[in-house]
Amino acid sequence: MENMIEVKNLVKRFGDRAVLDGLSLEIPAEKITVIMGGSGCGKSTLLRHLVGLYAPDEGDIWVDGKNIVGMQEKEINEVRRKFGMLFQSAALFNSMTVGENVALPLKEHTDLSNEIIKIIGKVKLELVGLTGFEDFMPFQISGGMKKRVGLARAIALDPKIVFYDEPGAGLDPITTAMIDQLILDLSRKLKITSVVVTHEMKSAFRIADKIILLHKGKVLEVGTSESIANSKNPYVQQFIKGEPEGAIPLKQTSEAYLKGLLET
Ligand SMILES: Nc1ncnc2c1ncn2[C@@H]1O[C@H](COP(=O)(O)OP(=O)(O)OP(=O)(O)O)[C@@H](O)[C@H]1O
Ligand SMILES: [Mg+2]
Repeated sequence: MENMIEVKNLVKRFGDRAVLDGLSLEIPAEKITVIMGGSGCGKSTLLRHLVGLYAPDEGDIWVDGKNIVGMQEKEINEVRRKFGMLFQSAALFNSMTVGENVALPLKEHTDLSNEIIKIIGKVKLELVGLTGFEDFMPFQISGGMKKRVGLARAIALDPKIVFYDEPGAGLDPITTAMIDQLILDLSRKLKITSVVVTHEMKSAFRIADKIILLHKGKVLEVGTSESIANSKNPYVQQFIKGEPEGAIPLKQTSEAYLKGLLET
């Protein structure tokens, strides 16, 4: 499998705390890689490094054969043109129509005529199942539809890589499943390399070709949905089952409790 992204020994400190603590990982081309881990383990921080918004203290980030660490702003903007991003809040411009929102990257980054831009926008909306919605305003559509508009905008420039930060955040399970299906469809149809950050296990298992599990700024485990689900690592199992960190098994707790009672 060819890698689209390779991260080598990434270190990022905020103050004297290493939030990313010597992280190395590989993201295969044209596949869906899901990055998981508990709150605060560094998922969003990692994503910001991958898109060049943060510079690391140590390490390298190879994207499509180029090391983006140390790149000048102009160079990094060139690389960013290969990216689509769908951030937590769909971040639509409320004063613009759905169509105008989707067209925005095309207006900013291409010299295409308005007519062509309109047509491309329409096609992208069709791809996310929103045929005929171009003249709606954001307030007239649901949260799930907004996410889809955000996705249409993310793929406007035919990106090689699309980054998703918590695509299911704030959506009900059925809408989340629909967005998951869309991520799968787009990835397969358009041969996009997808990087999805989520802490929803169900979503991850549904879409992932590869799962990378982070823990305290390090890679805890890498595998397929199946190998992760069957992992013998107690931390991995704890995460899958949604148990709090450092939780003591119930049996042990009650034993200690009983012992305590006997001793007094
Ligand atoms: N700009 C910053 N300055 C200082 N600390 C930061 C900064 N950005 C992130 N952190 C810290 O880094 C740690 C990791 O944050 P990050 O947002 O990457 O976690 P996350 O895995 O995305 O969590 P969540 O699942 O809650 O979104 C947190 O402890 C956070 O407080
Ligand atoms: Mg986050």
